[in-house]
Amino acid sequence: MSDEQPEGELVVRVQPMPADLNSAGDVFGGWVMSQMDLGSSVLAVRRAQGGRVATVAVDAMHFVRPVRVGDLFNCYGRIVREGRTSVTIRVEAWVERQGTFDLEKVTQADFTFVALDKEGQPTPLPTESPE
Ligand SMILES: CC(C)(COP(=O)(O)OP(=O)(O)OC[C@H]1O[C@@H](n2cnc3c(N)ncnc32)[C@H](O)[C@@H]1OP(=O)(O)O)[C@@H](O)C(=O)NCCC(=O)NCCS
Repeated sequence: MSDEQPEGELVVRVQPMPADLNSAGDVFGGWVMSQMDLGSSVLAVRRAQGGRVATVAVDAMHFVRPVRVGDLFNCYGRIVREGRTSVTIRVEAWVERQGTFDLEKVTQADFTFVALDKEGQPTPLPTESPE
């Protein structure tokens, strides 16, 4: 078993439901991606001090392990890059397996968000991060 541990702040903790499964009984990759998008947006919105943000890019994702119904699905996020108007959040997805509570990393990806003004145009990130 790997000694790797999750890095970052817990931003999503949810149990997939039967409607989130494919015909083979595993959770859809798209469901995993959407949870990671939602989780990383928590950190992006906080960095934008509550302002509007939009996902502009997601780096390549490699699904290393399946997510199954009954598992507890967790996302951990951290800021890994800041630009003028954009911020990149690295999100790791981990599951706690039903019954055993074994913690396994499922995938990770970098989500880049752009801070937007009222017109939906890129706007500089606030200079000060809130504590
Ligand atoms: C976000 C959006 C307003 C950016 O418009 P744009 O014309 O690309 O803006 P810019 O070229 O000024 O780039 C803005 C920032 O995004 C970054 N960016 C743009 N495309 C990127 C990409 N493919 N990957 C990483 N960063 C990217 C730029 O580097 C820049 O960051 P910086 O200011 O920190 O250097 C526009 O692409 C958009 O509306 N996209 C749709 C967003 C959306 O609806 N997402 C939800 C999923 S549908």
